[in-house]
Amino acid sequence: MKKYLVIGNPISHSLSPELHNYWLKKNKIDGNYNKEKLEDKDLDKFILRLRNREISGANITIPFKKKIISNLDKLSREAEITQSVNTIYLKDDKIIGDNTDVIGFELAIQEIKYDITGKKIFIIGAGGVVSSLICALNKMKPSSIILSNRTKNKTESLKDLFRNLTVVDWKEIPKFDMVINATSVGLNDDEELGLDFSKIGKDKFFYDVIYNPNRTNFLKTGEKLGNKTENGKKMFIHQAAQAFKIWHGVEPKIDQNVLRLLEK
Ligand code: ATR
Repeated sequence: MKKYLVIGNPISHSLSPELHNYWLKKNKIDGNYNKEKLEDKDLDKFILRLRNREISGANITIPFKKKIISNLDKLSREAEITQSVNTIYLKDDKIIGDNTDVIGFELAIQEIKYDITGKKIFIIGAGGVVSSLICALNKMKPSSIILSNRTKNKTESLKDLFRNLTVVDWKEIPKFDMVINATSVGLNDDEELGLDFSKIGKDKFFYDVIYNPNRTNFLKTGEKLGNKTENGKKMFIHQAAQAFKIWHGVEPKIDQNVLRLLEK
């Protein structure tokens, strides 16, 4: 039986095992997928398990998406651009790092038919997922991408990766068409970003990368002000489906059961 894993810290909240085990069964693949909490010091040992084929593939989540890179032999184009890896596997004795968050976000935006072309995008946060969002957005030709993070100097490495970013001070709300919460604020109910969206005007799109809980306070605020909203569920499912395709060569079906698996 082939073994797959998601590694991160914390990891208990991850619903990746539910998705992958459902698809493994559906596609009659003899494998299983678990989650493991690791510390930085465990990364070398973990990679050895892949090298000696004890594990066939893994997803990488916070806080290892960047840290894992020095342990890998080769990066996909998107992993290279974003300096972020969420999917790894062994191919021709080389450990490859890929990034399916980029295509996951692109497919989610396509699925809801939101046209990014010419739009002003405001991203809140500068953590692990942001480089993937920017990489995907750049392909969709926004007019500008504006970034704000509570700790402003954490935006510097993103500015090095992507030259087209504008950074504003924390709590400053620029003019925008779409605003993305890419912080961890909202993972626990009742958490608030503490930003004032009361003067943003109409027809905005509030997107939250968080999918559990379903509706964060950020999305509730967007809704209350009469705007379109979307959580990160579709992105999460698509990034998982693309990782599945890389490992197993089959694109898994996203059916009603898959959506139900994430209702927990
Ligand atoms: P990491 O920072 O290790 O990459 P992450 O979960 O990917 O972790 O990112 C967390 C993001 O949520 C960061 O942008 C963080 O802002 P800081 O860089 O200032 O820490 C943001 N964040 C977390 N708690 C926050 C809070 N209470 N208010 C505003 N932003 C917060």
